[in-house]
Amino acid sequence: MKKIQISHSKDYVGKEVKIGAWVANKRSSGKIAFLNLRDGSAFFQGVVVKSEVSEEVFQTAKNLTQESSIWVTGTIQEDTRSKFGYEIHVKDIEVINEAVDYPITPKEHGTEFLMDHRHLWLRSSKQHAIMHVRNEIIRATYEFYNKEGFIKVDPPILTGSAAENTTELFHTKYFDRDAFLTQSGQLYMEAAAMALGKVFSFGPTFRAEKSKTRRHLIEFWMIEPEMAFMDQDQSLEVQEQYVAYLVQSVLDNCDHALDVLERDKELLKSYTQLPYPRISYDEAVDMLQKNDFDVTWGEDFGSPEETFIAKQYNTPVFILNYPKDIKPFYMKEHPDRDDVVLCADMIAPEGYGEIIGGSEREDDYEKLKAQIEAFGLDLEEYNWYLELRKYGSVPHSGFGLGLERTVTWLSGTEHIRESIPFPRLLNRIYP
Ligand code: 4AD
Ligand code: MG
Repeated sequence: MKKIQISHSKDYVGKEVKIGAWVANKRSSGKIAFLNLRDGSAFFQGVVVKSEVSEEVFQTAKNLTQESSIWVTGTIQEDTRSKFGYEIHVKDIEVINEAVDYPITPKEHGTEFLMDHRHLWLRSSKQHAIMHVRNEIIRATYEFYNKEGFIKVDPPILTGSAAENTTELFHTKYFDRDAFLTQSGQLYMEAAAMALGKVFSFGPTFRAEKSKTRRHLIEFWMIEPEMAFMDQDQSLEVQEQYVAYLVQSVLDNCDHALDVLERDKELLKSYTQLPYPRISYDEAVDMLQKNDFDVTWGEDFGSPEETFIAKQYNTPVFILNYPKDIKPFYMKEHPDRDDVVLCADMIAPEGYGEIIGGSEREDDYEKLKAQIEAFGLDLEEYNWYLELRKYGSVPHSGFGLGLERTVTWLSGTEHIRESIPFPRLLNRIYP
């Protein structure tokens, strides 16, 4: 007999198959038992009819406990009442492991309880759907950059210097010297772009940020493309094409997950409309002040400000050219102004906040050196980075997209903690 995955049911209608599954839930009467089965690939219903199976099999079905693992054999049939569309008419059940007192029951649980049981919570249908969206974004990312001729480069995770902000570094010992966990692979990606032209990285990054918001993780994954001979305007085009590609890929390949998440597909579809609007930081400040926000030029925006700006548009929006003083040392100064830099943040709709930060990089040796010093950084640690401006420096630009912010947005989830299998949060490193 063929052993199959639930997700392949449509190819086995009318056939007898064997499936390894867990019992997510169950309801039964004297004559029939309905098992909500999951095997990792999908969820579907197992129907056990008393008059069609042996007394022993029916008793086994009636006694099954939540999250017990079983081998189930039976015939696949269409099930027009369910969104999944198929079910199995059970002939035999073999219990592999009986689960006793599974802690997550169908009743409502508090967030802290669920977070303490993240290793089990991952099994629930909503978490399953979010992980599918995450997987699709990962898959589509590789597809997009490979199609566009980018080379995947892996920057180091242990580093000797800060890429973004010295106050948010995770410190560790590196034999007899100090080292840090990477905040961003960008500086290394710039070196890689000078060797390979168009490159992208995809890896974990770490921020010792004391933020406890629904958008911040301590450990998160970032996609960082870097492109030689590209100015900031061209980089913005790559960014919007990439994000629209992610949205379309999730629509194309996560239909069922989006149903489980009750995500509005028409709304998602509208986010593939290009180009995304571009407004300057100056315009954003104006807009906020006219709407009674207490912001002054030179300050960074918080979450309420970003949400307000995002609400003025129907797609993601770029905010361009932030004040130099609130952005990192490597950003290129605006050609006509010395108070702003050539950068942009992409703000997601619906209040999901910044999903991309990017800029054109300072390519002038002297200006960059002055910036490193002005930021109080140790020149010696950045010597290799400065040398990129000494030997064939070229205009180049890049950006970083936060994977979990994007997963949270596209799956329509309230909090970023559900967008990564095992979130690292302020005050939480268990499980
Ligand atoms: O804006 P950030 O800090 O930019 C950089 O790190 C640049 N070096 C990227 C580059 O130009 N190569 O971070 C980029 C993105 C943010 O827009 C956000 O989506 C995500 O990374 N991000 C976080 N996601 C979750 N938790 C956090 N604490 C995050 N910090 C940044
Ligand atoms: Mg940023």
